[in-house]
Amino acid sequence: MKRRVSDGYPLIQDESKASQRVSSIPPLINRGTYWAMFKWTWRQYHPMEDIAWLKQMFRQELDLRPPSLAKIGENSILMHDESGIPIAHAALSNRWGNFEINSVVVDPNHRGRGLTHKLLKQCGGESLFSYTRDVRLQSTLLKAGFERRLYPGLLPLLNIGISRIAMLFWMMFTLEFRRIFHQFRHLLNYKLFIRP
Ligand SMILES: CC(C)(COP(=O)(O)OP(=O)(O)OC[C@H]1O[C@@H](n2cnc3c(N)ncnc32)[C@H](O)[C@@H]1OP(=O)(O)O)[C@@H](O)C(=O)NCCC(=O)NCCS
Repeated sequence: MKRRVSDGYPLIQDESKASQRVSSIPPLINRGTYWAMFKWTWRQYHPMEDIAWLKQMFRQELDLRPPSLAKIGENSILMHDESGIPIAHAALSNRWGNFEINSVVVDPNHRGRGLTHKLLKQCGGESLFSYTRDVRLQSTLLKAGFERRLYPGLLPLLNIGISRIAMLFWMMFTLEFRRIFHQFRHLLNYKLFIRP
């Protein structure tokens, strides 16, 4: 009877040859591919990593909505670095006939590399508008064919008015007084950019 190593006996000649043959077969996927697949699968089942990052960005940036309203849906544009960590975000909101680009944020470690150009490209070619007081975003919007305007149209204005008032009440309810104060202080600096 052939005995195995686990029996406390050495391997017999034939079995050791067989094990050498098996170890010489190249692996079907290399370690890098395996690692990338693992990370991709992890992200499918752990989208919380993205939302946690977005909440953190909203928490830091008082110009953006409160972290309690952070969500990643079908109208969200999220960019990741090569290891799958989120680095940039923008959202499109339907404002009754026109889409608003909002919640544009780039991770502080990745700013100044032109990521806003990539984000805007991913927003698509339809008619869009954005309110912002950030000069970097304003510069990118102008380069992407947006124009400075004062009025977004009746229905979008009505929709924005309702949503901003609702957000103000929400911020009061969630005690976001610093954010309210910040946004009121800069209210007149937010400029409208439209791509007709
Ligand atoms: C606004 C924000 C998204 C810009 O991201 P960023 O990575 O720093 O910007 P980019 O590297 O893409 O640069 C955008 C453009 O701004 C230009 N820019 C930089 N500083 C500038 C300045 N002081 N004045 C004018 N333009 C400037 C850059 O030259 C660049 O244009 P180019 O690529 O054609 O040369 C980022 O700063 C951010 O997340 N800010 C906090 C959140 C926020 O305020 N969002 C906007 C409100 S919705």
